[in-house]
Amino acid sequence: MTAKIISGRETAEHILEKELSKKVEVLKTKNIIPNLVVILVGDMKASASYVKQKEKFAEKAGIKSEVRRFESDISEKDILSEIDKINNDPLIHGVIVQLPLPDHISVAKVLNSIHPSKDVDGFTPNNVGKLFLGEDTLVSCTPKGIMQMLRISGTDLNGKNVTVIGRSNIVGKPVSILCQSENATVTMCHSRTKDLNHKLSDADVIIVAVGVPKFISGDQIPNGAVVIDVGIHNIDGKLCGDVDFDSAKEKASAITPVPGGVGPMTVCALIENTIIAAERIHSA
Ligand code: GUN
Repeated sequence: MTAKIISGRETAEHILEKELSKKVEVLKTKNIIPNLVVILVGDMKASASYVKQKEKFAEKAGIKSEVRRFESDISEKDILSEIDKINNDPLIHGVIVQLPLPDHISVAKVLNSIHPSKDVDGFTPNNVGKLFLGEDTLVSCTPKGIMQMLRISGTDLNGKNVTVIGRSNIVGKPVSILCQSENATVTMCHSRTKDLNHKLSDADVIIVAVGVPKFISGDQIPNGAVVIDVGIHNIDGKLCGDVDFDSAKEKASAITPVPGGVGPMTVCALIENTIIAAERIHSA
């Protein structure tokens, strides 16, 4: 079997140009321009490149975006006061703090300080709690993008076995909740999981978010499974994911590529969340 490629790049382009830009046009007739602020601390190359993509997608959808850059020695107090200003600025609808942050800044404190209505990353306790309870909320971007990719690939999760590898707050935990809300049976695996191959053996869908290059290979994938690869790594100048694409594509029925898979869908979800936040703030 050679897998169908689930292109995040093409899907994101389609959603941005055909769906989101139309919503933005409607908001603009009411003099509302969705506005996203990205806080970027320090000079990490990977973070700078992710932020650039966020600006590019914002422009494609026709929303405003602004990157506020700070030196890596900025104090926690100064970041918190910047977020406070943003929380109180009626012309800003969404804010994200690009992670990771330098060690002297508490990620929890910073994220907790973002007003939940502007938390377009869906990282605040309020929004995570709502997701857990199955309430309408701003859903964090990578899980949201993954669910959209499963939908466009025609994967109905009802009664299916989903194995998630990785238990992060950003991907593994929230995506497991979203899959359960679509009636999947979810198995959570992580670095201490015994006999991972057994946990994969009856999986209909495998979501890999472990942060280890080519951690999963084709021989661990049941025939016909759908594989979602969340990882992205630069190995000797070549990008790869958490899945060994070449061997996996011979076993999977559908697979996301790296690059051009989950990454663009994550950014697309961020833009969608900013539009939703603007709609909600102005209808409240
Ligand atoms: N760093 C890596 N992924 C993310 C993300 O989804 N949001 C933020 N804010 N930082 C990140």
